[in-house]
Amino acid sequence: MLRYLYDDVMDDAALDEHFAKRWWRGLPHEGEWANLVVERDGRFLGHVGFTMESSVHRTCEIGYVFSPDVAGQGYATEAARVVVDIAVVYLDAHRVIARLDARNDASRHLLERLGMRQEAHLRENEFVKGEWTDELVYAHLARDWVVTTDFA
Ligand SMILES: CC(C)(COP(=O)(O)OP(=O)(O)OC[C@H]1O[C@@H](n2cnc3c(N)ncnc32)[C@H](O)[C@@H]1OP(=O)(O)O)[C@@H](O)C(=O)NCCC(=O)NCCS
Repeated sequence: MLRYLYDDVMDDAALDEHFAKRWWRGLPHEGEWANLVVERDGRFLGHVGFTMESSVHRTCEIGYVFSPDVAGQGYATEAARVVVDIAVVYLDAHRVIARLDARNDASRHLLERLGMRQEAHLRENEFVKGEWTDELVYAHLARDWVVTTDFA
């Protein structure tokens, strides 16, 4: 689950500290993350988040982590679609992006299901967990994005 993330396994105290500044407290300002829990019938499925990376360029980045228990059922795709919708509607994003380890096939497939396209393959641009890793950047322009969430 954490294989392609920067994070390692955290204890409860470290998790609290990590997420204290990240849980949704309203629309994020530049550089802040806003994460939302995804649950069904009171059961935690995962979380999605987004940040306004640059308010000048109006670029938002999205991220998502889901429990392996619910993999392969479309929950992550559905939730990621909602955060793109939020970024487009409420943050007036011009462009929405995602960054991922090039080996992260599940994440890549999710982004392709959303219709995002690969714009960059950065070779060995990061040193993560003891090794050089390639990073992909996927993106979608807001003007090409069809908002499907009913926020009413
Ligand atoms: C990335 C991650 C969220 C993807 O999870 P996932 O289970 O593949 O994604 P979904 O929940 O959207 O499920 C997609 C699958 O459900 C299927 N599916 C079923 N119903 C669906 C529906 N209504 N809508 C979309 N997909 C549906 C899809 O066809 C797909 O199947 P496939 O894997 O056989 O192609 C998950 O692997 C994860 O949490 N990884 C660890 C954290 C991580 O790496 N995060 C990304 C960092 S960049």
